[in-house]
Amino acid sequence: MARVEASGYHAVVLTVDVQVYGRRERDIVHRFNPREAMAHAPNPRGPDGSYPERLTWDDVAWLKKTTRLPIGIKGIMTARDAKRAVEAGVELIWVSNHGGRQLDHTQGTIDALPSIADAVAGAAPIVIDGGFNRGTAVLKGLALGATVVAAGRAALWGLAADGAAGVACALGILRRELRTTMALCGQTSVKGLSADLISRVD
Ligand SMILES: Cc1cc2nc3c(=O)[nH]c(=O)nc-3n(C[C@H](O)[C@H](O)[C@H](O)COP(=O)(O)O)c2cc1C
Repeated sequence: MARVEASGYHAVVLTVDVQVYGRRERDIVHRFNPREAMAHAPNPRGPDGSYPERLTWDDVAWLKKTTRLPIGIKGIMTARDAKRAVEAGVELIWVSNHGGRQLDHTQGTIDALPSIADAVAGAAPIVIDGGFNRGTAVLKGLALGATVVAAGRAALWGLAADGAAGVACALGILRRELRTTMALCGQTSVKGLSADLISRVD
């Protein structure tokens, strides 16, 4: 944590949805094992890769008192956990199901968001991710209560296509799409979006 703080990061987020590794059938088909692929990467690693299996709320309390940085939890999918996180002093609620790769049949993050936003009630910013690859998707996330919509794979597709310039290009596409979507919804500020912009078709 001292290294993280010294490196100039603004927040630290604890991922809580990889207790065990999901059965990722697409990876199996591609004969890709991320754990093996990571084995030769220079990323720092803890002494024991099985620690996520043992995470409890005590670890959140430990993290809270160990760092001066704001802390977040990534992988919140229920209003109950969101509420408990806020009570534990967590400053960033990250609604995520790990891109749907961890648990088949889990709820989509956009469906989990409204009740979580209600439970958090402005006490902490909410980040959401999971397939927000279009400006229309970003608008839906913001309108339903997220403060920030995060893009994982969209940025990585840009990276694969053209390195740093590709990432900038991918984010530029998202930004332009969001602007167009905002305009066509008659909206002028991402801060003023409200849930009544979105209707569900069953
Ligand atoms: C190559 C790759 C590596 C990832 N590694 C991590 C990780 O180390 N920790 C984590 O919390 N999430 C990790 N994720 C999950 C993303 O942070 C994100 O939750 C997920 O991809 C959903 O967002 P997306 O649909 O915009 O990609 C990873 C995703 C990808 C594609």
